[in-house]
Amino acid sequence: MCGIVGVKGIENPQNFLIEGLRELEYRGYDSAGIAVIDNDGLKVIKAVGKLKNLEVKLKNVTFKNPKLGIGHTRWATHGKPTEINAHPHTGKFSAVVHNGIIENYQKIKKELEKENIEFISQTDTEVIVKLFEHFCNGDVFEAFKKTIKKIDGAYAVLLITEKAPDKIFFAKKGSPLIVAKNGNKFFFASSDAPLIGYADSAHYLEDSEFGYIDDDIYLFKDGKKITPNFKPLPDNRESAKKGGYRFYMEKEIYEQYDVLKENTLGRNTKEGIKFDEVDKNFFEGINNIIISACGTSYHAGLVGKYLIERSAKIRVNVEVASELRYRNPLLTKDTLFIVISQSGETADTLETLKMAKKAGLKTLALCNVDNSSIVREADKTILLRAGIEKGVASTKAFATQVMTLWMLSNYLADKNEYEIINKAIESTKVNPKIHEKIKRLSKRYLHGHGFFYIGRDIFYPLALEGALKLKEISYIHAEGYPAGEMKHGPIALADPELFVVALLSKNILFEKTKSNIEELVARDATVLTISSELIELTDDFIQISDSNHPMIEFFEMMVITQLLALEVAIRRGNDVDMPRNLAKSVTVE
Ligand code: F6R
Repeated sequence: MCGIVGVKGIENPQNFLIEGLRELEYRGYDSAGIAVIDNDGLKVIKAVGKLKNLEVKLKNVTFKNPKLGIGHTRWATHGKPTEINAHPHTGKFSAVVHNGIIENYQKIKKELEKENIEFISQTDTEVIVKLFEHFCNGDVFEAFKKTIKKIDGAYAVLLITEKAPDKIFFAKKGSPLIVAKNGNKFFFASSDAPLIGYADSAHYLEDSEFGYIDDDIYLFKDGKKITPNFKPLPDNRESAKKGGYRFYMEKEIYEQYDVLKENTLGRNTKEGIKFDEVDKNFFEGINNIIISACGTSYHAGLVGKYLIERSAKIRVNVEVASELRYRNPLLTKDTLFIVISQSGETADTLETLKMAKKAGLKTLALCNVDNSSIVREADKTILLRAGIEKGVASTKAFATQVMTLWMLSNYLADKNEYEIINKAIESTKVNPKIHEKIKRLSKRYLHGHGFFYIGRDIFYPLALEGALKLKEISYIHAEGYPAGEMKHGPIALADPELFVVALLSKNILFEKTKSNIEELVARDATVLTISSELIELTDDFIQISDSNHPMIEFFEMMVITQLLALEVAIRRGNDVDMPRNLAKSVTVE
């Protein structure tokens, strides 16, 4: 996940670029850079690490009558976070910034190398600028058109060149890009936050739209010139940051569809799962897996156990890191040690990772923050690409953790579920009618003496996670339980003031879970069932779409449990993003 910005028509464009990148830093922060055209030509400044490193470098640069510029903040996908791999990427007279993945970059690179064109970075992006300059023998826009025609994959691209120093060329497919204006000043950004306060209207580019700006905007699609659809931009920065949502957590729940697309980009392919970060032979000789994590990440690990054991037939133990750390566990060298962490800084998880390394185990991190302590410590890392998660209660990071484990289970089993994975991603799109229903239902669930979330198989860890979400932001007691286990004790609590959220999958153990629900209804518990099958016997019911795969149901139910926790917490007047007693990154044990 990266962020891009561009500007033309204002004094000192570099100031907008830096401010805009600050707004986009949540999309990635392992390096940043800008390119500006001034009286001397193209000037490119890049720095590894956070944006402030770039700002320090910029203090030593003078621009002479700068006209326009582009900028980028990077979340590494291809190539390590080095200055050479940072954007903008340059040729002899042009610079490009890009968000997305160019799937055929290796093929293009080989073709260009045959023509003695040199590459200096390990990124997919560099091919764009090299290809453009290769085509650039006359009409500059023609060269840009030829370039985007040749590249496959997902991209939001901005390109500037000394050959057309008054123009910014742009193209969008799959990755977000907005062009905005204010009179004859033009701006670009990956999301609207950087544009607020500068532009008064914006056109949200659609896939396959491309063009350029100079004194006006020239927009094209399918070879034809089209008219942009400029809509007014809000002028309140704070609410723009939350994208109009009441809380970051709500925004992050709604973002899950985009985030999962990003997470699977270049990994879930028609030919099967690909992980650039880990070679297949890394897994050779592995007979067992231990997953170590805390909280929500631990719940994701539990889902992973079901998926990996079922598909890849490798034994998986999932451990709460704070327990594993002190119990002197049996660690054998044929075990792969996986740690899962959103922040990459959780002390207990990190210590178990060090312990496993010391015992000579291969280690793999699934983590959302590059350069974090866990990423630095692990042998290999698969980045989760969830973007910065601001709400303390984890939502989109959990979604990417489960998705990555699902892809890993397929990878280990040589199984291709390309279409099913895509359908599961689709199922995380929030249905506004269902959200409305949850808002209405939530007022019935504000009192009572507690909640049980129940489910079987992968829906059991989802029940644990649903209960955790509710308790951490609503402060109501909630427990996740295997549906079949209720009769071994907890059912004694059943009465109308006991609320049960039942996760009833059509595809896994439907009849058995339904019987467990009936047992609770018979004892007067108040039950809310989430299922694709119409269940009339319970007090409340939320219907999900009919599908023939449990993971599709899983992701749709996940969104519903997150929204339920959110709406109950809002009704109770709580600060959803910063619940009491909690911190986003738990660096103490
Ligand atoms: C709950 C939540 C926590 C974290 C846990 C581990 O919403 O976010 O339970 O999952 O503190 O944190 P990471 O994943 O950063 O290691």
